[in-house]
Amino acid sequence: LLDENKILLCVDNVPTLSPTVAKILQIAGKMNASADELIHVIKLDPVLTAKLLKLINSVYYGMPQKVLSIGRAVVLLGVNTVKNLALSTAVLANFQRKGKQGDFDMTLFWKHCLGCAVGSKLLAKAKKVNRLHWEEYFIAGLLHDIGKVALLESQPEEYARVLEVLRQGDEEELQAEDRLLGANHARIGQLIAEKWKISDELGECIAEHHHPREDGKDLSVKAAVYLSNINCAQKEIGFSFLRPREYDPAVLDRLDLSEERIDEILMPLEDEIHVARVFLES
Ligand SMILES: [Fe+2]
Ligand SMILES: [Fe+2]
Repeated sequence: LLDENKILLCVDNVPTLSPTVAKILQIAGKMNASADELIHVIKLDPVLTAKLLKLINSVYYGMPQKVLSIGRAVVLLGVNTVKNLALSTAVLANFQRKGKQGDFDMTLFWKHCLGCAVGSKLLAKAKKVNRLHWEEYFIAGLLHDIGKVALLESQPEEYARVLEVLRQGDEEELQAEDRLLGANHARIGQLIAEKWKISDELGECIAEHHHPREDGKDLSVKAAVYLSNINCAQKEIGFSFLRPREYDPAVLDRLDLSEERIDEILMPLEDEIHVARVFLES
């Protein structure tokens, strides 16, 4: 059994965010975040600068003219998108060791996370969430299973036993993790979000992504991630050891959604994943 110390060790082993990314999160998290401040920080990081310019000049944004300055890119992309991109880059670094590790296929897992990110954002758009918040839906989807990466890295043998149980039996994932490890990936993910000082809302979203607590009629970030996660399992988009299941009817009801409506909203998912992949991975 993992004890409390081992769990903390597991979280400790997750690399800290680069100073640039940490700074960007801090600036973007402020009320009235200033573009100038952000530009100043980004300019100190040549890799991120190059990525942002590449992103803004990709077909995804369809700019009529090539954008050459980082200042202009930040103004055009907006503070939130820049934050999202910086964080995505940092997260991607955690997935860099591609390929299979035992039963765990990193490439399929990354696709699951991207699928969940893109799906959450599509749901936010469809449910008329304010455009300024769309990126939060994306990033929460991208990070929801980050606890698994920590388990895989820090407790490979113990975690391999969990995967074995999941592959054979019909025990629920969180239950199997709690039983065999003394903690689950949702809780560990929340601790990582705290360590990275991302936001309390995001931490809560990660903690509750399998069982979102009741939170009103509007589509919250955690409800979007919950739905998008199940959709990925149902449609076999990537793989993350979540068995296909039905959406909780109470959640559908509360949000005035049906399975058919969700399928319709998420129709462009595969194409959008492809686009997200192109700019995140290049
Ligand atoms: Fe999960
Ligand atoms: Fe997941």
